[in-house]
Amino acid sequence: MSISVLVGVQWGDEGKGKIIDVLTRDVDVVARFQGGNNAGHTVEIGDEKYVLHLVPSGIFRDETLCVIGNGVVVAPDALKSEISDLQERGIDISPAKLEVSSRCHLILPYHRLMDEVREARRSSGNKIGTTKRGIGPAYADKASRTGIRAVELADLARLEERFRAQTEYYNSIFAGIGVEQLDVDAEWEALKTAAEFIAPYVKDTVLTVNRAASQGKNILFEGAQGMWLDVDYGTYPFVTSSNTTSGGACTGTGLSPKYIDNVVGVMKAYTTRVGAGPFPTELFDEMGEELRRVGGEFGATTGRPRRCGWFDAVSSRYSCMVNGVDELAITKLDVLDGFDEIPVCVAYDLDGKKVTDMPSDTRDITSAKPIYESMPGWKASTSDARSLDELPDNARRYLDRISELVEAKVGIVSVGPNRDQTFQA
Ligand code: GDP
Ligand code: IMO
Ligand code: MG
Repeated sequence: MSISVLVGVQWGDEGKGKIIDVLTRDVDVVARFQGGNNAGHTVEIGDEKYVLHLVPSGIFRDETLCVIGNGVVVAPDALKSEISDLQERGIDISPAKLEVSSRCHLILPYHRLMDEVREARRSSGNKIGTTKRGIGPAYADKASRTGIRAVELADLARLEERFRAQTEYYNSIFAGIGVEQLDVDAEWEALKTAAEFIAPYVKDTVLTVNRAASQGKNILFEGAQGMWLDVDYGTYPFVTSSNTTSGGACTGTGLSPKYIDNVVGVMKAYTTRVGAGPFPTELFDEMGEELRRVGGEFGATTGRPRRCGWFDAVSSRYSCMVNGVDELAITKLDVLDGFDEIPVCVAYDLDGKKVTDMPSDTRDITSAKPIYESMPGWKASTSDARSLDELPDNARRYLDRISELVEAKVGIVSVGPNRDQTFQA
């Protein structure tokens, strides 16, 4: 039996979906524990490519039960579309394969509109660059104790009363700031359709994960986003609104920390970020363009170009510490195949002082200048390698060096987007 948590250790999009899909070969339950449909997890199987937003990445395995845990915020309409799209593509999804926690808070149309309005009203240096999926306002309602939960989807009369009251409340705010109000009747009709579709999937998933754990089943927790988008540890306020780090797996599913055996940290061989906020190793030159082009670095959810830069050992080491990473899954090594030299950031220069621990003040992270050491490239394709021995010497040295710098061992290496382009280190 093994209970593992898989998290992104950078700014999201590390390749979590791909690694989850590979690991679920031997897993009974895959559970999301935070975030919402701001996530975009790509899984490529043969010639088929899927991008999952709310449905856990274990859905492609017949024997795996997928759980959307209580820490996730769920947009009923988005989940309905995602399930229907996957079903149309021949993926088996039924309430026997997918469960949604009765305690999940719902993302409703007023959250999306509020997310959009807040972003539009932030001055240029203060925009977060959210995915506009309503994530922040939905988590804010949860904390304000005004949220509507998935358990309420089954009772349409109760849901309608609560939804109309909340929409009217938000409409009064929108009216006050000159934003067009939502059409309550039309929004209710849409929600009703989605509620009827989703209600059969809603269960007490705290019981599901605890029973699975006590029966000795293998469970994998699927993190969304990444360490530096965590609401507590990330580059606040340029973060998302949930705990993306490994501790979130327990609060977000109702499983005690005593069960967790293993933490897998997914880490790109370089760094990307989508949305605003500090990014010390960001490249603004043709090297950055090259990483974006070769790595196909465009957002899986919003299609925005991702900001690209070299590997940052300062932030990643701190991240491995907070997450308690037992093993790294290093992805996209193949993207570095063509570079003559590969700089690795080993420290920051902060106003003339050398710093090796990630500062907590976002202003300091913004002004930090990376101090690089340079590693020789390998100038050969790695995408057909299926073991460490089949990698060029310099690629192996690169993996060893970044593993040494972040103080975590390499468990898995990924050299392409496909399921089979992966091996154990
Ligand atoms: P996630 O949000 O962490 O699941 O990552 P995304 O799916 O948003 O972005 C990762 C992208 O990289 C996707 O397009 C994947 O298909 C792709 N990918 C994952 N692993 C590798 C790899 O090892 N090499 C290459 N070239 N692409 C990869
Ligand atoms: P996955 O799971 C990368 C970013 C947004 C924005 C910030 C806040 O695919 O790795 P939000 O909509 O959450 O309020 O936006 O967080 N962001 C992500 N960046 N990958 C993600 O998910 C992200 N989810 C949110 O771009 O900067
Ligand atoms: Mg993604």
